[in-house]
Amino acid sequence: MFNQRTILDVQNIRVEFRIEKRKTLRAVSGVSFDIKQGETLGLVGESGCGKSSVARAIMQLPPPTSGRVLLEGDDLTEVSKKQLRQLRPKFQIVFQDSISALNPRQTIGAAIAMPLHIANNGSRSEQKFMVQKMMAQVGIDPEYYNLRPFELSGGQCQRVQIARALMTNPHLLICDEPVSSLDVSVQAQIINLLEDLRCRYGLTMLFISHDLAVVKNVCDRVAVMYMGKLCEIGSSDDLYRFPLHPYTEILLNAVARIEQPRALSDAQTDVMDSPFPAGSPPGCRFHQRCNMKQGICSETEPEMKRVRSDRWVACHVRE
Ligand SMILES: Nc1ncnc2c1ncn2[C@@H]1O[C@H](COP(=O)(O)OP(=O)(O)OP(=O)(O)O)[C@@H](O)[C@H]1O
Ligand SMILES: [Mg+2]
Repeated sequence: MFNQRTILDVQNIRVEFRIEKRKTLRAVSGVSFDIKQGETLGLVGESGCGKSSVARAIMQLPPPTSGRVLLEGDDLTEVSKKQLRQLRPKFQIVFQDSISALNPRQTIGAAIAMPLHIANNGSRSEQKFMVQKMMAQVGIDPEYYNLRPFELSGGQCQRVQIARALMTNPHLLICDEPVSSLDVSVQAQIINLLEDLRCRYGLTMLFISHDLAVVKNVCDRVAVMYMGKLCEIGSSDDLYRFPLHPYTEILLNAVARIEQPRALSDAQTDVMDSPFPAGSPPGCRFHQRCNMKQGICSETEPEMKRVRSDRWVACHVRE
């Protein structure tokens, strides 16, 4: 279905934070995936599992502690600062908190023009023309050019972030929880906009969310993350219909319960209470919460194994 050209190849990245003098928090413990041209990969997992750390490591803000991030073959962790600056227009990110991601003192026109300004692309009037054209494409009235972020709604600010990210024709767009700070009705509008832009520009995207329901209609493939590692990856159709990893099942059950509201069950509150990733238990990271666990699960960490074409799972029981 996709052009097989790989745009992003993330190889075994680790992200560690020094939290106290001798203490290190492992936010990401060896994550690998790739994204083909025109494909959207969803990255899903509960709060604190390391999704934003993966996004920031890809953006080199800051670079991962170890591992490689190849963008169209260029290893972003290896290139010089100058080369990285030249490559930056090719990979852009849209953050979760739409209003605080924008400078309150800057007009939205200036915010969207910023990437053109940095790249020294066009005269002022040409830049204004390009910005207003992009504003129209993302559904913001070009008359709003001189307004400031606080004069816009959350959804409109998110459209400004998207416009700014698209000004450089990025080859990869990372959306880190792009709708989770917005009202449900506005969420749908922004998702529709991203879908529309994706078709129009043939965008390649990494779409991050803690909610499997949000990524369902947007992503071609989904990677499920738990405590700093991927536990399952596969095409959306297959993964939603036949979840393999017990954690993916819990996430999907939580989605089903939200679609038919009921009192919170233990399993659901379990999903919301994320464990702290610093002291991961031996064996499978999920075994303490898993109702299918066997002896091996508390002893040996499962490797990611291919169960069928394009379907991978890290589980001793389900592999
Ligand atoms: N700069 C930092 N310094 C120390 N710890 C950090 C830092 N950034 C993130 N962490 C920790 O790393 C872990 C992963 O955080 P991260 O923000 O990547 O999770 P997330 O999956 O994006 O969560 P959320 O869904 O809430 O956005 C968390 O335990 C978090 O507290
Ligand atoms: Mg995050």
